[in-house]
Amino acid sequence: ARIFIPGDAAALAVGADDVAATFSAAAQAKGVSLDIVRNGSRGLYWLEPMVEVETAQGRIAYGPVEAEDVSALLDAMLAGEPHPLLLGPTEDIPWLKRQTRLTFARCGIVDPRSLDDYRAHGGYKGLERALALGAEATVEEVVQSGLRGRGGAGFPTGIKWRTVAGTSADQKYIVCNADEGDSGTFADRMIIEGDPFVLIEGMTISGIAVGATRGYLYIRSEYPHAVAMMEAAIRTAREAGYLGHAVAGSAFDFDMEVRVGAGAYVCGEETALLESLEGRRGVVRAKPPLPAHKGLFGKPTVINNVISLATVPIILAEGADAYRDFGMGRSRGTMPIQIAGNVKHGGLFEIAFGVTLGELVDEIGGGTASGKPVRAVQVGGPLGAYFPRALFDTPFDYEAFAGKDGLIGHGGIVVFDDTVDMAKQARFAMEFCAIESCGKCTPCRIGSTRGVETVDKIIRGDEREKNLVVLEDLCHTMKFGSLCALGGFTPYPVMSALTHFPEDFGAQAPVLA
Ligand code: NAI
Ligand code: SF4
Repeated sequence: ARIFIPGDAAALAVGADDVAATFSAAAQAKGVSLDIVRNGSRGLYWLEPMVEVETAQGRIAYGPVEAEDVSALLDAMLAGEPHPLLLGPTEDIPWLKRQTRLTFARCGIVDPRSLDDYRAHGGYKGLERALALGAEATVEEVVQSGLRGRGGAGFPTGIKWRTVAGTSADQKYIVCNADEGDSGTFADRMIIEGDPFVLIEGMTISGIAVGATRGYLYIRSEYPHAVAMMEAAIRTAREAGYLGHAVAGSAFDFDMEVRVGAGAYVCGEETALLESLEGRRGVVRAKPPLPAHKGLFGKPTVINNVISLATVPIILAEGADAYRDFGMGRSRGTMPIQIAGNVKHGGLFEIAFGVTLGELVDEIGGGTASGKPVRAVQVGGPLGAYFPRALFDTPFDYEAFAGKDGLIGHGGIVVFDDTVDMAKQARFAMEFCAIESCGKCTPCRIGSTRGVETVDKIIRGDEREKNLVVLEDLCHTMKFGSLCALGGFTPYPVMSALTHFPEDFGAQAPVLA
């Protein structure tokens, strides 16, 4: 029998390796031959380790499985009998069924180490089409799809590519940002661990489209499993002729390598990332010049997030129109939303833009894990705004969130119950910025430290009214005076906490109009 036990880091954290070793030993003891595939996660993290067995009726899931369940579970699987951990056919699990998996179509399904499996599930169809279309038409296809940067800023990916394609140089680069630093986010890690070839394919298509022959994948050091998976996948793709000279028998050359970060949040900012890649300390560069004009080693560079690049193959394979059919307004396609924090059903939920925050938190997330009422959710990482229940009708869409002084960022949602102290959360935002600031500009470097002190004074009740005004003024200076999003966006969590939860700051009425 063929069974699937995730090798995804989050599954490993709850004992997937133990479960796999126990299955292997139990099979040997029972004299049955078992083919264990270490797949990626399906993204239903509260059910990990989720084990699937292949049957004539498709894959059947069980979870969460612990090592001591294995012996009885294996007997039940082999006999086709029910077991208390049975979840039913995987594809029928409502949480999975409700999703639209485009970027994550193969994640958790394929063996991430097998290029044959990748190809058997539609892999490299996007590259084939890109080669047939040619460079210019490939760029236009990505423009037409409406795909926007999934790292958080939402800049149209195709327009970025067009800029690089239109800049002449003897060398151009593709840089993929896998320095996934936002709290509550794991989509980049999940796709790298569960479907690494899709990212290689996306980077290759990007290289061919803009005329770049080299790619760098910058992965944070906190993701050792992703680093190992990617290095293995790059070797496999190269051996199979999908990387290197004359990619897939075409006239194009493209090769890539992994670089590992050293643990600074700011290295997720594109220009600090380039500094780090070039071997220097991660300090933000002033823009212009844009990386698209002068990026890595001074050459025109496409820098895209993992999810943006991993979405390119399906856009090419299925066509721009098929992708842009999903979504609302200017937010086209799907978003892999990551639901985390104090939530019952945490995990990766890919769905077309337009689903409301309330649906995501209450229905899909199932409310808090603690069972207490949801009080606040932070959307878009540590620099994202805190939303109260009153804003739960906000649709997941770049413009809708911006319209309510928030951001969707990289699609992370962190849920808090009614025990959260929002003044402490505001303090944490300032403290985070003070710790992670690269120090290049004053509003961020000094402002964040003054911010921590000011929030402390407010919490202590020390000249509260005066310090609330100081805090508001400080946030204004940071928002408009900072060089990059770290200092510039820290006011979002601070001001949203103040605006929506003034009672936690000891204020009688909202501080802001
Ligand atoms: P940005 O708006 O300055 O730039 C967005 C992208 O578009 C950049 O790559 C920029 O070089 C490019 N661009 C802008 N104009 C262009 C043009 N005319 N031609 C070609 N390219 C052009 O935003 P930034 O500072 O890069 O990102 C801020 C975002 O990062 C925030 O919204 C935040 O959500 C997100 N973020 C994500 C994190 C993560 O872990 N993924 C962590 C922290 C922040
Ligand atoms: Fe550096 Fe902060 Fe200024 Fe960004 S805002 S350049 S992290 S000091």
